[in-house]
Order: sequence, then C-alpha cells, then structure tokens
Amino acid sequence: MPEPAVVLEVSGLRKEFGDLIAVDDVSFTVPEAGSLAIVGESGSGKTTVAKMIVGLERPTAGTIVACGNDRSRPAKSARDRRRRGREVQIVFQDPYSSLDPRQTVEATLDEILRLHHGWPRDRRLERVRQLTDLVGLDARQSRALPRGLSGGQRQRVAIARALAAEPRILILDESVAALDVSIQAQVLNLLADIRDETNVSYVLISHDLAVVRQLAEETIVMWRGRVVERGRTGRVLDDPEDDYTKQLRASVPRPGWKPQRRTLAAAEEA
Ligand SMILES: Nc1ncnc2c1ncn2[C@@H]1O[C@H](COP(=O)(O)OP(=O)(O)OP(=O)(O)O)[C@@H](O)[C@H]1O
Ligand SMILES: [Mg+2]
Repeated sequence: MPEPAVVLEVSGLRKEFGDLIAVDDVSFTVPEAGSLAIVGESGSGKTTVAKMIVGLERPTAGTIVACGNDRSRPAKSARDRRRRGREVQIVFQDPYSSLDPRQTVEATLDEILRLHHGWPRDRRLERVRQLTDLVGLDARQSRALPRGLSGGQRQRVAIARALAAEPRILILDESVAALDVSIQAQVLNLLADIRDETNVSYVLISHDLAVVRQLAEETIVMWRGRVVERGRTGRVLDDPEDDYTKQLRASVPRPGWKPQRRTLAAAEEA
C-alpha cells in the first residue's frame, strides 16, 4: 500500500510569551485519515501548538503546512480565512466563550454551512438535523440557546459546529474530557466513524490515556514546550523510553483514577 499523504506538517514551531518559551522546536506530521495525540502535563505547550495550527496564535518561528498550504502567517483575505477553516477546525474543552449566546444551536450550525458550502436552505436544514443527530442533541436542544444547555451538550454543539465545516483536520483539545462516560464513548465512536467515512485527520490533546489509545495511532509527549518522546501510541504508553513519559504515565487518569493534585506536582518536581 502507498504511504498516505501528509495533510499536516509542523516544523520547528516555536512560541515565546515574553521570557517564557511556551513551545520550543516542535515538529510532527499527520497523515491523511491519521490521528496524532499530544500528551503532556499542564502548561507543557499543547494548547499553544493547537492555537498556532488553527491561527489563533502566531508562531515566533517555524512553519505550518496544512493540505499543502502554508498557514504560518495570518490569512490575507476573507476567502483565504474560509479556505483555512475548511482545512482545520478546533474544538476546545470549554466552548462556552466561542458560542454566540444569542444564537440557537440550529442557527449556529446553519451559519457555518452557509459560510463554507453555500448550500440552499433545504439542504442546510437537512444537514443541521443530521449533525445534531450525530452528536445526540434532540429537537428541543437544537432550538436552545447556549445558556439553556448543559456543559456536555454545549461541547457536543461545538463538535457538530466543527464538523459542519467538513475540515480535513480536526483538532480536539480536551474536547471529550467534560462529557460523562456514556456520552464520551458515543462521541469517540462517532469520531472514529467519521474518520472512516471522510478520511479526516485528528490532532488529539488529552490527559486521558484511554482516550488517546482509542483514537490515536501516533503520540508525541511534550514537556516544557519540547517534544521528549514520539512513536506509535501503544509503544509510547506501554514502553516509554523517556523518564518524563514514565512519570506522566504514573500520574495521569486511568480507570479508577481519582484526581489528586499531588501526583502532577510530584511529576513536576521529580
Ligand atoms: N497568551 C498567553 N500569554 C502568556 N503566556 C501564555 C499564554 N498562553 C499560554 N501561556 C503559557 O504558555 C505555557 C503553555 O500553555 P498551554 O496552554 O499551551 O499549556 P497546555 O499544555 O495546553 O496545558 P493544559 O494541559 O493545562 O491545558 C504555560 O506556561 C502558559 O501559562
Ligand atoms: Mg491546554
């Protein structure tokens, strides 16, 4: 079989915030229909990498190429921005701030469909129903405003909205962390199905190594802005070479794990 095409190539990425080097020489590629997980303790630079890829932060150095198009610098036109939106979408952990408080779920999704696909109203309506169905929102919830929804429901709206653009790359930054276990399993299965159907690629940022195992073939481990380990997910998680990865494995949630501040602090001190 031929190697799948690379859809995302990040190289030598760096981000400074004043004196802080939040991201330091990060490079990786993601193949079409592939899934790369980024793991690492709080503050290691994962979200900053994601924000640079999607265009919410500007890299201090390095390049980002998605679908063959350079996006290391800000888009020059509205048209360019729309194209970039069809290349990469992101779902954050808490999407509340990015949802318009005055827009119903249906209106939110409809707007994305109009913007990116320019479909006629009937087709948009049908697709809105499909999308809400996919993420398990009922008719009442679909007509609700964000404040009328639970955190988990809002998260599913954010996932549906990202999918509405039909991006080639979807970045999930702790996107399923707030969902309860059964909904989380449903959303993970959905993401796997969507990948089979559409060849979308995922960049998955998660503290939950069970989620990482389920969705990502490759994993990189970040520590203080740098990539300290990379490889097949099973190998990285089961047989880590790097000391930090070993500590991370001991300190992150596993089945039966209960949050404990101490464990993360201990990993940092060690
Ligand atoms: N806009 C900003 N201005 C200044 N510093 C920032 C900014 N955004 C992030 N940082 C800093 O950069 C570092 C990396 O932050 P980032 O959010 O990328 O971490 P993370 O790996 O996503 O952590 P978490 O797992 O807690 O989400 C942190 O030290 C953070 O305080
Ligand atoms: Mg983060």
